[in-house]
Amino acid sequence: MKLLSFLLLILIVFSCTTKQGNQPNKLYSKQAVEATNGMVATAHPLASEVGAQILRQGGNAFDAAVAVQFALAVVYPRAGNIAGGGFAVYRKADGEKGSLDFREKAPLASAFDMYLDEDENVIPKLSTFGILSVGVPGSVDGMIELHKKLGSLPFDVLIQPAMELAENGFKLTEIEANKLNYYQKDFLKANDSLTYFYNGENWKTGDYIFLPELAHTLKLIRDKGRSGFYEGKIAQAMIAEMQPKGGIITQADFDAYKSIWRNTVEGQYKEYNVISMPPPSSGGIALLQLLKGSEAFDFKIFGHNSAESIHIMTELERRVYADRATYLGDPDFYDVPVNMLLDSSYLASRFSDISLDKKTDSKDIKEGEVEIIESVETTHFSIVDKDQNAIGITTTLNGNFGSKVFVEKAGFFLNNEMDDFSVKTGVPNQFGLVGAEANAIAPEKRMLSSMTPTILEKEGKLLMVVGSPGGATIITAVYQTILNVIEHDMDMQQAVNASKTHHQWLPDRVLYEKNGLDSLVLQQLEVLGHTLEPRTAIGKMDAVLILSDGTMQGGADPRGDDTAVGLK
Ligand code: DON
Repeated sequence: MKLLSFLLLILIVFSCTTKQGNQPNKLYSKQAVEATNGMVATAHPLASEVGAQILRQGGNAFDAAVAVQFALAVVYPRAGNIAGGGFAVYRKADGEKGSLDFREKAPLASAFDMYLDEDENVIPKLSTFGILSVGVPGSVDGMIELHKKLGSLPFDVLIQPAMELAENGFKLTEIEANKLNYYQKDFLKANDSLTYFYNGENWKTGDYIFLPELAHTLKLIRDKGRSGFYEGKIAQAMIAEMQPKGGIITQADFDAYKSIWRNTVEGQYKEYNVISMPPPSSGGIALLQLLKGSEAFDFKIFGHNSAESIHIMTELERRVYADRATYLGDPDFYDVPVNMLLDSSYLASRFSDISLDKKTDSKDIKEGEVEIIESVETTHFSIVDKDQNAIGITTTLNGNFGSKVFVEKAGFFLNNEMDDFSVKTGVPNQFGLVGAEANAIAPEKRMLSSMTPTILEKEGKLLMVVGSPGGATIITAVYQTILNVIEHDMDMQQAVNASKTHHQWLPDRVLYEKNGLDSLVLQQLEVLGHTLEPRTAIGKMDAVLILSDGTMQGGADPRGDDTAVGLK
């Protein structure tokens, strides 16, 4: 046994002194799409086409984003939404930047202990499934605000393609047919009747879905704006769906909902300026902490997905996710110490005990016992127009098809975002993430998110738009995609294709994509003390990179139907 460990240590030393460089990806070989007059990368080919169409009609990146958000609500209903929420980070061609928070809010009648029984134990599934898991939706208000501030085409032009897709029907891809089949029983459990989306388990590739009620809802939003959704028929349909089953959202919640323009969080990684989402997302702060921590290490020398790279990334991630659990929450309710968390001397001391020779034990960083639950869905899209206006939006219902509650009269699923709160200190949510007071439930508070829409600049110019779904893995997937381009010389698509790893402090294990790492690397990580766990996919990125000659490179994730459409 001792001899075996010794031999493995020799191998580690050997591989660490040999640059492994930009290894060919073991899982995916999709090629980048290149263009010069605009790029739209989304989770669904029909939504990417809608975005490209808006750009061709003379719309800017922000117009295209509004159109894509509504199109995804039709063709990608497991994460695209009008009854969910999200975050947008933008950079205008003139360099102005900002972010829009259209995250869901806790209902006015919510309470910090609403998911606990009388013994203060968490009631299983109450925050993830069915009517009580629903947060007050933000997407419609968000899209209206986005259009008002940054759009150039009339709103009705932007919502039209989604209306047509809902009315005329769209074809299911194989992945989407399988997803629908997988969730049939849940749909049945969460709903009294189900005209759409329920079909036993018989959905097949190429089947058409028609959503006339959703088309009508979109028409109301087109004609009445915000009040087409938050008032009148549609608001009443949502309340009618929820109230008889004990739902607590009322008209007062809809009236009170407002999305918020926030200053981005910004910081330097080497010569790159990183612009990302501030709280109530943890994404921007955590990403900046990871990148700043990475500056002390030479990932180029370590090589992509070498044991040493993965070990260092893991050690950084362990510490960053511990900070996330303690310090991050909705800044309108909790004083998030943003400056402290990004302070160089704080970060230097935070990462100073990282050893190249062995892993740290997460228990030595902070207490907590958690179990892991598999990933679900969200969606990110990245758009750049011909003038290099750029926007990244990550939007979600939280779980696949959210709460699984379908508002039949209005044609859409309701989110289950309430589970992103810390329902009890130290008890993990569906992503295994723990939290405490900073992210406790309170009326009108926004639940902490990991969504990380991010834009990078180099020498004052736009370089990259990037983001991903994946719950807790969003931040680490975005982080690795950025390192893949900057440190491992990959193009945008290679960086997206590349297999990813993830650590989130608790539970104390490194997730990696099955068949995504060399077995030698796995052995080397074990020698360093890491526990390893394979899983299906980490991240599902849609990103755009601007090359030095102005060429736009789209990277759309081969883990899904994600598609980049470029305008030549
Ligand atoms: O806001 C968050 O962090 C989560 N609600 C995101 C959910 C998600 O990414 C599910 N995806 N695979």
